[in-house]
Amino acid sequence: MGILTDQYWKDLAESQAKLKQKVEQDSWRLDYHLMPTTGWMNDPNGLCQFKGVYHFYHQYEPSSPENKQAIHWGHQTSNDLVHFQEEELFLSPDKDYDRDGVYSGSAIIKDGKIHFFYTGNVKHEGDHDYTYSGREQNTVHVVSDGYSIESQEVVIPHASYPNGYTDHIRDPKVFKNGESYYMVLGARTRESEGKILLYHSNDLYQWAYKGVFFGDKFSLGYMWECPDFFELNGQGVLIFSPQGVPEKGVEYQNVYQSGYLLGDVDWSSVTFKESSKFIELDRGFDFYAPQTFEDEQGRRILFAWMGLGNTSPEYSYPTVTRGWQHAATLPRELVMENGKLRQRPLVEYQQLRLEEEIVHFDGCNGLGILKGEVYELMVDTEGADDFSIFLREDTQISYQNQILTLKHGPSGYGRKYRSIHLTGLAKLQLFMDHSSLEIFVNDGEYAITSRLFPKSNQDRIDFLGSSSLTIRKWNLKKANGK
Ligand code: FRU
Repeated sequence: MGILTDQYWKDLAESQAKLKQKVEQDSWRLDYHLMPTTGWMNDPNGLCQFKGVYHFYHQYEPSSPENKQAIHWGHQTSNDLVHFQEEELFLSPDKDYDRDGVYSGSAIIKDGKIHFFYTGNVKHEGDHDYTYSGREQNTVHVVSDGYSIESQEVVIPHASYPNGYTDHIRDPKVFKNGESYYMVLGARTRESEGKILLYHSNDLYQWAYKGVFFGDKFSLGYMWECPDFFELNGQGVLIFSPQGVPEKGVEYQNVYQSGYLLGDVDWSSVTFKESSKFIELDRGFDFYAPQTFEDEQGRRILFAWMGLGNTSPEYSYPTVTRGWQHAATLPRELVMENGKLRQRPLVEYQQLRLEEEIVHFDGCNGLGILKGEVYELMVDTEGADDFSIFLREDTQISYQNQILTLKHGPSGYGRKYRSIHLTGLAKLQLFMDHSSLEIFVNDGEYAITSRLFPKSNQDRIDFLGSSSLTIRKWNLKKANGK
């Protein structure tokens, strides 16, 4: 039995019903990005494909557009990663060991069952800062068919974490190597350094601490959230979300980062040794806490939270007053090409394409040739080195002197610009969806994700500059609610 009262569930249903009315009228709702019906969402959790069905769980507060109460796991399912069906809440903060939030975690499939691991967050009453004292972050194991819970128990209680750490140890991600299961956890030391801790299990039920998987000889910021390790074409990739990384020119400009290191695991000591620098996965404003999984076709797929915490006062999300906040990015397939990690939108989204329009921009007369609010644009930029694309109310993408810049005006609600220095630009692929924009550069060499909140009927797609461009455009069908 859970610790949440009948009154709690009644209040939740009532607040959610009220929010729903506001949300349904909002023109900033998205047509083809995953989002819950109401309220707040953040990190993707427990991603997996089980018996053909894709499961997407996420940090969720259904009854408020702000993240102020103990968080749940929302749940959506899909057969194609394009059309999603919202399911019942999967996990709620209804146990003593997770009463202040069912925090992030992951899934792994074993013997016909899904095994979930998450962080049960507990805040004790008293005079605490909740970093050095007052907080528990228990690692919890759930066995399930994806919908109902067969068993749920703490497998690593907070008190058993190693010495030298603050109370911030969370976000279990489990992977298999040979016959062994490994769990990585993000952590903050008492000296405020980020580390990734490693646990080992033979059966997913009994876990033993093995040491630091990564971070002993590498420092970056004060806390690492949401670690994820996998191999692609034999190349190790370690993803995590470090907080407190100093800005460096046009890099690391967000308050929090998400990125990866390439490297290899020494399987005798089970430690990761990096062979690259820390590379941001996305260079826009709204991307955090990515999680990957391997689907039944063997593809490595990444979803991220299309949002970010603590952006205020720099920028904000005006949908709060409309009963909701945040969505997930488009799913991206990760591929390794010539030793480089690339991110590409999954091919499945192409079923949303309506009729194709092709226009050629020859350096003049680029005004009013296209229009739209929900679409994909594929721009052949081979040889181009001076152009700007103006979109919606006041958003501009420009490329000059090998610098690609995304710039927002007031509809960015504080988002100003982000730039990337390129060695060349052959292709831009843009996904516009009412209040979101994702840009893929050079077939996934870079990605830039941003929210924008234009006034109604702002459908401009104009081109300026001296370069010649060939542009293909598809309006995209609505996938949500279909
Ligand atoms: C990342 C994060 C995780 C945590 C969750 C709580 O956005 O802070 O570290 O588990 O969100 O919602």
